[in-house]
Amino acid sequence: MTYDLDCPVGVIGAGTMGTGVAQNLASRGFKRVVLLDLSDDILKQARARIRQDLRMERMLRPPPEGSPDTKTLLARISFETDYRSLGEAGFVIENVVERWPVKQEVYRLLDEACPDTCVFAANTSAIPITRIGGATNRADRVAGIHFMNPVPLKPAVEVIRGVHTSVETLDTVQSVLRQMGKEWIVVNDAPGFVTNRVLMLTVNEAIFLVHENVAEPADVDKIFKSCFGHTMGPLETADLIGLDTILDSLVVLYESFNDPKFRPCPLLRQLVDAGYLGRKTGRGLLTYDDVDV
Ligand code: NAI
Repeated sequence: MTYDLDCPVGVIGAGTMGTGVAQNLASRGFKRVVLLDLSDDILKQARARIRQDLRMERMLRPPPEGSPDTKTLLARISFETDYRSLGEAGFVIENVVERWPVKQEVYRLLDEACPDTCVFAANTSAIPITRIGGATNRADRVAGIHFMNPVPLKPAVEVIRGVHTSVETLDTVQSVLRQMGKEWIVVNDAPGFVTNRVLMLTVNEAIFLVHENVAEPADVDKIFKSCFGHTMGPLETADLIGLDTILDSLVVLYESFNDPKFRPCPLLRQLVDAGYLGRKTGRGLLTYDDVDV
């Protein structure tokens, strides 16, 4: 199947991931992207972030042939706070904070506002897709798309099939991803899926090493880069994701499995309490002088 590029796509949550998803969709030909968040102030910041990211991206590499200019791209995105703007949506990608009560309420509103045929894709770090499907009256039309950050630059995503996700829904998900220029790997549902079941443990353990004064953050990362050839260390990765999102994801894993191996490191909690959330605030486990906050 091919997704109709004139059919609106909803993007819920205009934070780190939602702005990247909206930008990726608009740059790949989706003509009606509806980016929705709680307030006009947040949406104003999201618009500015998309402009800034586009400028940076175009400085680093020339845009692929046929890419729209910034003005055309931004004109394809409408910035909204009212769920009624999703009345014609054929596809929705949800990217609100990683907290179950918040997502649950968002899916109730989406279920009410969107056409019955609309497919919902949850961009979550750890919350099971089957649980999300159960918060709607269309569990067969709900799947997971776990995007990587920064969305426009990352080539692949993890697609999650919930217990009730239908073959038609997976077809629709794949047609949207093909148009977005992404590759995908389909996995069955489990808290944290494949990626974050492994990554969150690694990141948390790396934070424990700093907490216990075994090594400085930069040295922990250097070991992974120099010895293992990783492009980024676990602590830089945590800062890029956002320490609040890391903490929320570990809490979901801890509660889902009832397993103490997922208990968040006290240092992680302290950094989040202090507002040191990583790159997005200019400071997390490491400090970022290049970030304009
Ligand atoms: P973020 O904190 O940057 O953005 C979340 C946005 O959701 C905020 O703009 C907030 O105002 C909005 N929001 C909160 N409640 C809302 C509501 N009721 N209705 C509409 N919008 C609402 O978080 P981020 O990093 O963008 O994460 C979003 C989702 O994507 C989370 O579930 C996270 O686990 C997942 N994710 C995050 C990745 C990352 O690297 N940051 C990677 C892959 C998935």
